[in-house]
Amino acid sequence: MQGDDFSNKDEAFQAFDDIPLSPVGDDTMGAVIARRYGRRDILKGSLAVTATTALFGTAALEGGTSVARAAGAEFAFPELAAGVDETHHVAEGYDADIVIRWGDPLFKDMQPFDARTLTAEEQSKRFGYNNDYIAFFPLDQGNTRGLLCVNNEYVNPEVMFPGIGGRPDRDDFAKIAEAHVAVEMAAHGVSIVEIALEGGKWMPVVGSKYNRRVTANTPMTVDGPSAGHDRLKTKADPTGRNLLGTLNNCAGGQTPWGTYLSGEENCNGYFWTDQKTTDGKRLTKGLGGDQQKSYERYGIPSNWYSWGKYHERFNVDKEANECNRFHWIVEIDPMDPTSKPVKHTALGRFRHEGAETILNKDGRVVVYAGDDAQLDYVYRFVSKETFRQGDKAHNMRLLSEGTLSVARFNEDGSVQWLPLVFGEGPLTAEKGFVSQAQVLIDTRLAADALKATRMDRPEDVQPAPGTGKIYIMLTNNERRRPEDVDKANPRPQNEFGHIIEMTAPDGDHAAATFTWDMLIKCGDPRVAEVGAMWNPATSADGWFACPDNCTIDALGRLWVATDQGNSWTKTGRADGIFAVSTEGQSRGTSKLFFRVPVGAEMCGPCLTPDGETFFVAVQHPATDGVKNWKPFGRESTFEDPATRWPDFKPDMPPRPSVVAIRRKGGGKIASG
Ligand code: FEO
Ligand code: CA
Ligand code: CA
Repeated sequence: MQGDDFSNKDEAFQAFDDIPLSPVGDDTMGAVIARRYGRRDILKGSLAVTATTALFGTAALEGGTSVARAAGAEFAFPELAAGVDETHHVAEGYDADIVIRWGDPLFKDMQPFDARTLTAEEQSKRFGYNNDYIAFFPLDQGNTRGLLCVNNEYVNPEVMFPGIGGRPDRDDFAKIAEAHVAVEMAAHGVSIVEIALEGGKWMPVVGSKYNRRVTANTPMTVDGPSAGHDRLKTKADPTGRNLLGTLNNCAGGQTPWGTYLSGEENCNGYFWTDQKTTDGKRLTKGLGGDQQKSYERYGIPSNWYSWGKYHERFNVDKEANECNRFHWIVEIDPMDPTSKPVKHTALGRFRHEGAETILNKDGRVVVYAGDDAQLDYVYRFVSKETFRQGDKAHNMRLLSEGTLSVARFNEDGSVQWLPLVFGEGPLTAEKGFVSQAQVLIDTRLAADALKATRMDRPEDVQPAPGTGKIYIMLTNNERRRPEDVDKANPRPQNEFGHIIEMTAPDGDHAAATFTWDMLIKCGDPRVAEVGAMWNPATSADGWFACPDNCTIDALGRLWVATDQGNSWTKTGRADGIFAVSTEGQSRGTSKLFFRVPVGAEMCGPCLTPDGETFFVAVQHPATDGVKNWKPFGRESTFEDPATRWPDFKPDMPPRPSVVAIRRKGGGKIASG
């Protein structure tokens, strides 16, 4: 597909009937702003002058200017060509340098990395595996020193461990020993590392006092309504308040008070059962006694890892409640390496993708989150108390109490936020809900009862500061049947995903009702059956599939990271970072900025506050679909690399890495 162009755009896009552009009627700047924000917002002045000028330039205040002048929101970089190969690529005029990789040392006096001799003790002092969300906390005004907090979501043992062969969950873990499991546990969690900008390149500060690994075994506490509940008590912790470890840390967030939030996503996969059916298959359902309904709704146990063979707490036959201590949001204070992470039950228990925050205009903190599963939900938490500038102790309690709600997307373009409050609506004893603590432990069951809208894998849910807009990445959903489509999830067997834009009325993120609109329907716009929807200005390189994470730049524009899994073999393009215009005439246009090596997923888009560095996370290179890529033709990069991949390098396997993108010669990444 690389090299195609849209020389005949009319023909290429004839399948579209709802391109979100082509303003009709009065196209003065005032009309455009009124359409995008609502006349009421403008008249009330809730759309601040600064936000207006940031989006549209000073022309926005002058009126009578053509919409084209509003394209201060257009992206100036030269677009990268889409494609697939064994390395990463960035748009011309930029450098993309690896900052840190799986196994790089965080502490001094460590041996060179060698995957063949790696121990758990060593791994717990090295950068973890499969880097996902990235947050940057500056340590100086000039953004030349800072802390990177990076989620290490999961591990690929078939790539990490020489000689293991194929995926252990398919090969019955025969070659995974207890020592491998110990390394796996130490490679999970969060890596915190100081980095410094030297000669235009970011380098880890090995041995910094801030450097820290949080792993699957790090002591942490739990707070909020479910802390101490019977279903959080285990043999090892009869208080139900003292936990070990965090798992499957996918996306996350940064709080206004300078802490890091990490979402525990597919934790069900770590829980194990020895029980098998009479035909020898593992039971993945039917366990759990009085919490069986909850187990089934969360997919527990799933036997993706063999930790339960060696650690009782991960074996549900032996410890029924450990699984209830995962699937939460964890808060970590990166400035204090001795602090205990806290799991906040008030934010609910589900397959948390991220936890992006915004300070509401009334001072309450609002957290948006997706439950990343096909046919699951979008959530919002609003704190009870308000933020106090400079009072970190107070602010660190803001996520302990508040209201969690789940979204219903109505056909009329409204979004209703349905509170998950015990005693309200169907969340009563007659319906099986007995306390707020239980409503939160079984968040998914409570959201089912509230009849929230079943979405196409909601991942990142990102508020854009100053605009009242929130963007929802919906990755895909091949399970949606034709009879189950709705306006917010309009395609059956949605292979390529879409992006929804919500608007908080008057910029009030705590309001009970929002509005929503479709921004993009992803996939190849040239294939009518795909049913994609892009601005026609999008090039053959610019369209993408499977939006996963995103970030917002200083101009309020969207940068999307994709995760196609094996589907890159259908689109002919690797995952990457795509810059998406959200306003004006270019709304719905996408441009390719960076792409990952074959088999990797793109994660962690993070801009430094000065806008001069864009950190991205290259996760699980050489895994997804690589057996279908001719130069590899295999699943694991440890198989016979010298003969089957001539470019084999001594530090193989390919290592998940954080990459820093900077403009050659310096300057802002994303000038208009
Ligand atoms: Fe870990 Fe939802 O991706
Ligand atoms: Ca993700
Ligand atoms: Ca994000």
